[in-house]
Amino acid sequence: MAEDGCVRSVAIIGAGAAGAITAAAFAAEEYFERIQVFERRESAGGTWIYDSSPPSKLPLKPGSLPPELDPSLPVPNNLPEITSPNEQERFTQTPIYSSLTTNVPAIAMPFSDLPFAYGPFVPHHIPKQYIESYFAYHKIDSLLSLNTTIEDVSLISPPNSAKEKWKLTLRKHDPVRQVDVWWEDAFDAVVLANGHYSVPFIPEVTGLAAYMKLFPGRIQHSKTYRTPLLYTNKKVLIIGNSASAKDLSMDLLSTVAHPLYLSRRSASRWDGPSPPRGIIWKPVVKEYRMDGRIVFDDESYVDGVDTVIYCTGYLPSFPFWDAKNNGREIWDYKKNKLAKTYLHTFFHDFKTLGIVGMPRVLTFRSFEYQAIALARLWSGRQTKALPGLEVQEGWEEEREILGKRQGKKFHDIEWGTGETLGWLGELYEIAGLGKLTGEGRTPPVIGEEVRWAIENLRKYPEPGKDKDEKRKGKVEGESVSREDRLEGGDAEQWVLVGRRAEKDLLSFI
Ligand SMILES: Cc1cc2nc3c(=O)[nH]c(=O)nc-3n(C[C@H](O)[C@H](O)[C@H](O)COP(=O)(O)OP(=O)(O)OC[C@H]3O[C@@H](n4cnc5c(N)ncnc54)[C@H](O)[C@@H]3O)c2cc1C
Ligand SMILES: NC(=O)c1ccc[n+]([C@@H]2O[C@H](COP(=O)([O-])OP(=O)(O)OC[C@H]3O[C@@H](n4cnc5c(N)ncnc54)[C@H](OP(=O)(O)O)[C@@H]3O)[C@@H](O)[C@H]2O)c1
Repeated sequence: MAEDGCVRSVAIIGAGAAGAITAAAFAAEEYFERIQVFERRESAGGTWIYDSSPPSKLPLKPGSLPPELDPSLPVPNNLPEITSPNEQERFTQTPIYSSLTTNVPAIAMPFSDLPFAYGPFVPHHIPKQYIESYFAYHKIDSLLSLNTTIEDVSLISPPNSAKEKWKLTLRKHDPVRQVDVWWEDAFDAVVLANGHYSVPFIPEVTGLAAYMKLFPGRIQHSKTYRTPLLYTNKKVLIIGNSASAKDLSMDLLSTVAHPLYLSRRSASRWDGPSPPRGIIWKPVVKEYRMDGRIVFDDESYVDGVDTVIYCTGYLPSFPFWDAKNNGREIWDYKKNKLAKTYLHTFFHDFKTLGIVGMPRVLTFRSFEYQAIALARLWSGRQTKALPGLEVQEGWEEEREILGKRQGKKFHDIEWGTGETLGWLGELYEIAGLGKLTGEGRTPPVIGEEVRWAIENLRKYPEPGKDKDEKRKGKVEGESVSREDRLEGGDAEQWVLVGRRAEKDLLSFI
């Protein structure tokens, strides 16, 4: 913090959706003297930047966690400094594949002040263009520092003192001179908007590490999948049964040798009693054998597989977090959660550190509430102060206990139980209204239309459950056909279900 204990300068790490809305919310306050958004990629867009040529040899190590796979870079001793370019894999590319469309309806996904160009489920270039132009739309593109990676974040004053301040170590690649330029900078506050779908996760399975050595390239992760053409006539096994596994299996059916094998640990909301035509379901893999055989939990097996694609998700990585200096880790890999957080946004022990984008919930729209709450709080204009340490710790403890009891991940927030509205409501109350004279952004409402879209529009139908599904039809009892407002979408790509689902409605996010 500045000498008077106020936050005047803010660094935002990442220019994806979370960084974009954070920058907009902070700029709207017209209070902060310096806001800077640091982005390691060549443009804003985060997840939605399509990399047509992914690395062919992405380091994959069964059971390995990001601190091992994606360690911090050694910082030169005396800064500023110019070094030869970094050659360590930083997992900067995104997992977007050629056919990917969004899975959250366009009425509910974007920020409240700017719609997507069309809907309901749009190709990946739409959110990419949207995030990039969102910076320009708010005239905050000048806040962006591109090709700039934050390599170290260190607190340089005692926590909770009136003088909290952060030292950032930055690295910018200069493609003309073919060098990396390193320097330091200091800010009163830092918002982490670095995303969490960069470092792929592959579970440990008996024989898998040796199998990978014996058959190089046979084991892949959905992070590097781009098109089904590479797999023409190949025998393919997909591991996992969430959004990536669903999309990839549908994509691959057009080219691979049938059947396509899909190994499921649990049923997804799209699964009916039997697999789609062309797919054979298998249980979890039990063992990889050196003769190439892959054995499943029920002792069944497949031989002669050309490619196994792990669609087992990602783990958050914070290689820039200086745990030694800052006194603790930021992510608990055992509990799979942020450490010492309140409302998934604030930290118990660092008043001037915030995070936007972690919960697996409404994405862009929910990031807006987090960003506004942080901006209002650090400009001293919040309506409601954060509660004391005891309440914040109690919130975290209670959530951990509840998660254990219900088998739920700490940062997954449900829609159907009212949990999403409860969480957004708390952020909404902290933020309060913007000023009458225009400074500050007011958190939006989750209006009837947004709630309707979440509850009624699906990218994929749920077989046997969506009995009353209609394609571009009128929902029973509706006086106005809402899909009139969804013009432009591909009718074959989505369904209007007009009913409540059993599994949580946002469980696909
Ligand atoms: C395959 C896939 C499909 C998805 N589909 C949907 C969907 O249909 N609908 C939906 O709502 N959500 C979807 N998501 C979730 C998606 O990630 C969120 O919608 C959203 O884009 C996340 O935004 P973010 O800003 O939090 O993170 P990101 O988009 O990951 O942005 C983080 C940014 O931080 C930068 N960064 C990281 N570390 C540093 C550093 N040290 N220094 C500088 N910059 C750094 C990264 O380069 C990146 O640009 C999908 C995710 C994946 C992986
Ligand atoms: N727009 C789109 O259509 C689209 C497409 C792809 C991805 N995405 C988004 O991208 C994000 C990541 O999705 P994702 O599908 O890649 O990952 P994910 O949702 O985290 O799913 C991981 C899958 O791997 C399985 N898994 C994890 N560990 C396993 C283990 N040890 N053994 C066997 N199976 C295991 C999980 O099974 P359990 O369910 O049993 O845990 C789950 O099916 C999500 O936000 C998703 O919405 C969106």
